[in-house]
Amino acid sequence: MKTEIFKIDPHKIDTEILKYCAGCIRGGGLVCFPTETVYGLGANAFMKNSVSKIFKAKGRPSDNPLIVHISDYEMLDLVTDCTGVQREMMMKIAAKYWPGPLTMIVSRDDAIPETVSCGLSTIGIRYPVNPIARELIKLAGVPVAAPSANLSGKPSPSAASHVIEDLEGKVDIIIDGGSCDVGVESTVLDLTSGKPTILRPGAVTLEQISALYDAEAFDWKGSHAGGEDCDIENPKSPGMKYTHYSPKADVVIYEGNRENVVKIVKSEYQSAVTNGFNAGILTVDENIDFYSDLKNVISLGSVNDPKSQAAELFASLRGFDELGVQKVFAEAVPTGGVGDAVMNRLFRAAGGQIIDCNKKNNNIFGNI
Ligand code: TXA
Ligand code: MG
Repeated sequence: MKTEIFKIDPHKIDTEILKYCAGCIRGGGLVCFPTETVYGLGANAFMKNSVSKIFKAKGRPSDNPLIVHISDYEMLDLVTDCTGVQREMMMKIAAKYWPGPLTMIVSRDDAIPETVSCGLSTIGIRYPVNPIARELIKLAGVPVAAPSANLSGKPSPSAASHVIEDLEGKVDIIIDGGSCDVGVESTVLDLTSGKPTILRPGAVTLEQISALYDAEAFDWKGSHAGGEDCDIENPKSPGMKYTHYSPKADVVIYEGNRENVVKIVKSEYQSAVTNGFNAGILTVDENIDFYSDLKNVISLGSVNDPKSQAAELFASLRGFDELGVQKVFAEAVPTGGVGDAVMNRLFRAAGGQIIDCNKKNNNIFGNI
């Protein structure tokens, strides 16, 4: 398939081009578009066949449901069938965090085909703030089902070049609207079980939801609890079953105090190089000078700036692929707030490989 690529300035939207893209979605085509989190791979959520094409283009497992994007509250009523407490909670949280990087799981309206939710009676809804995303959905006049626009298992795309790399030839249109501000996918908040529960951490944090309701969150390692090699059959959010975000390189995370981490990361890097591997280091600005004599060192930004780390993470993981790096030695970043989202994605990129550098006698040298 020939993919058309259009560049659109989010601050000066070319409505004619966007109308053309919106027509493609309404008519059943696949359009990749920027959002404030990551790029999405969108289709008309009312059309079962178009939704099925998303799964095919991404190579996405057929039991991993899609979220639906809306551009106003009228559209919300077309996709949800929620009343009472659930509706009340959704609207109160929406008043504060929509439009924005938050997906809420509520009851699905039958107008949305089962294929979108993979047979679940619930549906994830997101009202994005990115102007291109909003205008595209508005012009299409239909809710847009869209997962992240990457091949299944690869890091999510925070720039159009990532989408082109993964999906050119598999979709009708890719809109290049620059890089995504947030850089990691939306917070997924489940409202169907009484207590609001964060299934996937993101830019809207547990602390923020907790200010409105008694809420809880899966541990940032939680999403890995259902990794592919794990036998949990029915994780609450089906996407959690799958190992995600993996670059080609093998990633291992090192946590502990700064001195121990730097020392062990350096020695692990050096022994990998001695063994003939192309190695790389994922670090923070404060530590980068410790590695000034080494190759393939990428910083996520300041250790105290989780927003910058989130914005840089996926591009950094793809950057290691471009450098042909086979082993990535990654420093852990502080958790809490948006840091949970960063560590959650990094942990999954590492397939759960994390080493405590403060533990005496940790037998890491055999594990790498
Ligand atoms: O920021 C984002 O959320 C991006 C942009 C494009 O909006 N989209 C995105 O979609 O990350 P995706 O499909 O890559 O991730 C959606 C996650 C998956 O882990 C999926 O399993 C979960 O949300 N999910 C979707 N519908 C669900 C439902 N009804 N119940 C539980 N989990 C659901
Ligand atoms: Mg995804």
